[in-house]
Amino acid sequence: MTNPSSSFSFSFITGFITLQLLWTSTCYASGCYTSIISFGDSLADTGNLKQLDSIKNEPPLHFFLPPYGETFFHKPTGRCSNGRLIIDFIAEGIRLPLVQPFVGAKGNRLMESRPGVNFAVVGATALDSSFHEARGVENPLTNSSLRVQLDWFKQSLQSICLNAQDCKHLIERSLILMGEIGGNDFNHALQSGKSIDEVETYIPYVIEAIGSTINELIDLGAKTLLVPGNLPIGCSAVYLTMYYGSDKGEYDNSTGCLIRLNKLSLYHNELLQIELNQIRERHPDVIIIYADYYNAAMQIFRSPKKYGFTNGALKACCGGGGPFNYNSSVPCAHPASNLCLQPHTYVNWDGLHLTEAAYKFIYKSLFQGPYTMPQFNHVCSTQGLEEVVGLSSSM
Ligand SMILES: *[C@@H]1O[C@H](CO)[C@@H](O)[C@H](O)[C@H]1NC(C)=O
Ligand SMILES: *[C@@H]1O[C@H](CO)[C@@H](O)[C@H](O)[C@H]1NC(C)=O
Ligand SMILES: *[C@@H]1O[C@H](CO)[C@@H](O)[C@H](O)[C@H]1NC(C)=O
Repeated sequence: MTNPSSSFSFSFITGFITLQLLWTSTCYASGCYTSIISFGDSLADTGNLKQLDSIKNEPPLHFFLPPYGETFFHKPTGRCSNGRLIIDFIAEGIRLPLVQPFVGAKGNRLMESRPGVNFAVVGATALDSSFHEARGVENPLTNSSLRVQLDWFKQSLQSICLNAQDCKHLIERSLILMGEIGGNDFNHALQSGKSIDEVETYIPYVIEAIGSTINELIDLGAKTLLVPGNLPIGCSAVYLTMYYGSDKGEYDNSTGCLIRLNKLSLYHNELLQIELNQIRERHPDVIIIYADYYNAAMQIFRSPKKYGFTNGALKACCGGGGPFNYNSSVPCAHPASNLCLQPHTYVNWDGLHLTEAAYKFIYKSLFQGPYTMPQFNHVCSTQGLEEVVGLSSSM
């Protein structure tokens, strides 16, 4: 990207031409975007941490063992669910291949024959590890924060496009998924004993980190970004277990979720939307779509049975027992954990992550429903999706 003449080699040119041919000749039905570029955490990781983990000489993390992946892929893929994630439904919806992990893909083969690349890593935070380490919080899973992911992307550009102009074209025609990211800035801190009040003070920094990453991507040419907010974390089995037995007044009596934690998500989402508005004002030519994960998911938490989640919304399908089938010392895939028979009737998969059925429902609310602003359907139509993924049976 810097000075092409210095980095030219025969293989580089060959790789480039191959890539360009694929890039321009691949014709996908939706036609809105030629690729997906994704940043985020376990809600979007399609295999990066699994690849990073496989290099270590240690037993694999529980996410990378069966029953993860059992429903759709029939094996663990590095996705933190029983099947597909929202990013997989997005790819299917706009008629692109599932987005492959960056880690493990090499050099100019990065996007060859697979128009998209995913930098999301399980456990990733929006803020750098140094922010959390200064507060005594260690990330048990990864130090690949949002900044690290952006650096991977910028470095990889040298091998997938010829010069700044060419890279700009490539990025312009991509749908960029910015998150969800930021949830782990709360998760790791809360799970290592920080108070909710303290964690709330991180939010402005988290939003700043997301905003500056978006601005850098816009400088690189980004024209369409989808930016999800946080899920209602007060509804997750992890926190319902951690704060088990709180005063009755701490619970939302229409859902059983923890009010204070949901307010934390809502506050994050509010500041995120203010930040997005400011970016929109500065860049009227860029489409920035807010994805309202919180309210899309709250539909299910309010009326699980109405949407087919007949086992309720709060108890995990796979876990180590207890009132919400979650026990941090007996995670899903642990020999002593138990697994539900019908994951599609559960919202919560392993305590923190959702089932494929829940992700599909949220996807549909976002991309065919009103939970994106501006509505995704008005930016790029995903009609006809029913035939592709059989969504009509789930709602
Ligand atoms: C993150 O970085 C610190 C050093 O800053 C290191 O001690 C720790 O092991 C790293 N964590 C992971 C999960 O790689
Ligand atoms: C739920 O809480 C609200 C106030 O917080 C109260 O007015 C209402 O009666 C409660 N409903 C039930 C079913 O307990
Ligand atoms: C979690 O599992 C461990 C190990 O089986 C057990 O000792 C502990 O009591 C469990 N915790 C809860 C809250 O059930």
